[in-house]
Amino acid sequence: MPRPIIIDTDPGIDDALAIMLAAASPEVKILGIVAVAGNVGLEHTAANAASLADLLRLTCPVGRGASGPLWRRDTSSATEVHGTNGLGGYQLPTSTRPLEAGIPLCARLIETSPEPVTVVAIGPLTNIALLINQHPETARKVERFVIMGGGTLDVLGNTTPAAEFNIYYDPDAAACLFNFGVPITMVGLNATHQALVGSAHLPRLLASGGPVAKMVAHLIASYHENHQPSDESAQHDSLALAAVVDPSILTTSHLHVDVENIGRLTAGMTVVDHLGRTGKPNCDVAIDVNVTQFRELLDSRLSQLDISLTGQGG
Ligand code: BDR
Ligand code: CA
Repeated sequence: MPRPIIIDTDPGIDDALAIMLAAASPEVKILGIVAVAGNVGLEHTAANAASLADLLRLTCPVGRGASGPLWRRDTSSATEVHGTNGLGGYQLPTSTRPLEAGIPLCARLIETSPEPVTVVAIGPLTNIALLINQHPETARKVERFVIMGGGTLDVLGNTTPAAEFNIYYDPDAAACLFNFGVPITMVGLNATHQALVGSAHLPRLLASGGPVAKMVAHLIASYHENHQPSDESAQHDSLALAAVVDPSILTTSHLHVDVENIGRLTAGMTVVDHLGRTGKPNCDVAIDVNVTQFRELLDSRLSQLDISLTGQGG
């Protein structure tokens, strides 16, 4: 039976690959996609989520969530990495699908699913904090929140020396989730920086020549996380999705994690307690990645998806 998931996202180049991986994977069923502001503004992330759903022929609803952090006004988007439209300038046809209000949509999908839902949050955690605040009993029914965000001391930050982008953008929202007391898997930079993927790792996909291949080729080339001169980059968000599709890709440690949301130099830092001094473990922290297995999963699944969309006249 496929695991029902909701994808909370700010597409976003690596978000787009993660949504493709979910669409391609029979282990999961996408109940809905909810956009949040992050990599670019909500007007772009919501439009990109809807256009991706169209491209992938997804019948699930798409929602518009928060247009900015809970209260911080001093963090900003990542257009230098993802381009002004969030997809490195790639133009998908504008979607005409109606967008629902994101937080009520998320709550309804959790309440009406016959099986407990996994929320895969691959953007800032603002929508998740709003869900927790507005619908706490519903949020408690979530089987697990799998997030891309933060990092351990090995690799703490990509936005400041101490903070990863998704957590830095809205640290109060992240602190809300980590203190809520629900199962969490944290796929942070210490893991995603092991998950480098470039065109050399996607031979079947790039040979398949359909709409997914065309878009991924553009996204990889325009992702300004690339480790020049190669086109390899950390596919942060796909790794979080892969943790749900095939948990054997990651090894994790069960540890206590909290978020520094005040520090002058450390706002947005995930404080991972390897010493067991600050509280009971509340999070499965991704530590190691089977990179070969991850690259193989991406290439095999996305190429199958491309072939099946092409067969449907994509
Ligand atoms: C995270 O921040 C965003 O730029 C990416 O989409 C990913 O979710 C990596 O720090
Ligand atoms: Ca993202």
